[in-house]
Amino acid sequence: MNPGLDKLQDYPFERLQNLKSKVPLKDHSSIIDLSIGEPKTELPELIQHALMESSDQISFYPSTRGTDALRQSIASWLCRRFQIPEDKLSPDENILPVNGTREALFGISQALADTKNRKYVALPNPFYQIYEGAAFLAGAQPFFMPCPESRGFSPNFELIEPSIWMETSLVYVCSPNNPSGSILNPADYEYLLKMADIYNFIVVADECYSEIYQDESNPPLGLLEWCDRSGRDGYDKCLVVNSLSKRSGVPGLRSGFVAGDKKILEKYFRYRTYQGGAMSLQVQAASLAAWADEEHVVKNRFHYRKNMGLIEGIFDDKKIKTPEAGFFLWLELPIDDIDATSLLLQRGGILVLPGQFLAREINGINPGSNYIRVALVNDMEVCRKALMTIKEFFFSGEVQS
Ligand SMILES: Cc1ncc(COP(=O)(O)O)c(C=O)c1O
Repeated sequence: MNPGLDKLQDYPFERLQNLKSKVPLKDHSSIIDLSIGEPKTELPELIQHALMESSDQISFYPSTRGTDALRQSIASWLCRRFQIPEDKLSPDENILPVNGTREALFGISQALADTKNRKYVALPNPFYQIYEGAAFLAGAQPFFMPCPESRGFSPNFELIEPSIWMETSLVYVCSPNNPSGSILNPADYEYLLKMADIYNFIVVADECYSEIYQDESNPPLGLLEWCDRSGRDGYDKCLVVNSLSKRSGVPGLRSGFVAGDKKILEKYFRYRTYQGGAMSLQVQAASLAAWADEEHVVKNRFHYRKNMGLIEGIFDDKKIKTPEAGFFLWLELPIDDIDATSLLLQRGGILVLPGQFLAREINGINPGSNYIRVALVNDMEVCRKALMTIKEFFFSGEVQS
């Protein structure tokens, strides 16, 4: 068997289930679940309509490359959103539809990490758990990049030694970040791509929260956008993944894409033809409609912005800031995060995710310790109630370390 299987840790939601089972609860039905980042926005009618209209398409096998129309729709969206000139991004060469970013993030390591010659796949810490599992199952060793609290848990690439870069074949970054909501800036991309050129590794940017941000006039910078702005030729060594899950609030549709370097994408395409992950034609039709529409996305963004707007008013604490993007509050508490999660559930009926489930201990420190991740996805009144309870429990002097 693949030795990487024994290295896989229990998934955070399995650990949460286990924690939950130990908490005595009178009424399970009234729990407010803010542990999972599952959008609760209204299902866009245009997606429903496109799904119904194309239901006959399930009679056919889809192709791995996807339809020309879908790739064109994704390319047009990328160009509009990231101000990329249309002639710079070829729908045929620079884009590949995938069934959500999760499978792509996993498959990319299996297909592209050069584990024979290089030890590491690098990832942030805390992080979206797929990166680590993908590294293990590809036969690589995860290298947890230093992500200081002072930088909003974004990696500080400059702290990474040349000896590590030399042994790295692939780097995952996540911007906007899950869990912290921080965004990589031009200097981050510039330094990372400089290292990629010197040490010859692939950069994979997980941008699935790119459409959920606070400042309508200042959307988060994307990796392809940065490539273009900095005159990088053909998105060399760069891949971006994104999906409709958060943008359009349809995580069950399983629809996303990988875009970037055409030489790398061609290899990944070859891998996917064998992996068998072609997107159903019906889903392709619905996705095409979704990428072409911004109205529902603006509405969704407004929903999250209202929720995120509650944070500073409720906590009234200079240290607790509204995250730049995404819909998570990554909140430091005065007590252990696992104890806090149990207490909140038992006494407040609120379920959150303990921060240490999303991070790994390095030099005796788990950067997620004492943090909880609160997904502000529900209606504003539900989020308000949950945040008020969290404040009352941990910031009113009732519970101290
Ligand atoms: C950072 C991050 N990347 C990727 C995903 C996977 O999303 P999907 O496969 O639905 O595109 C998630 C899901 O929550 C996520 O938080």
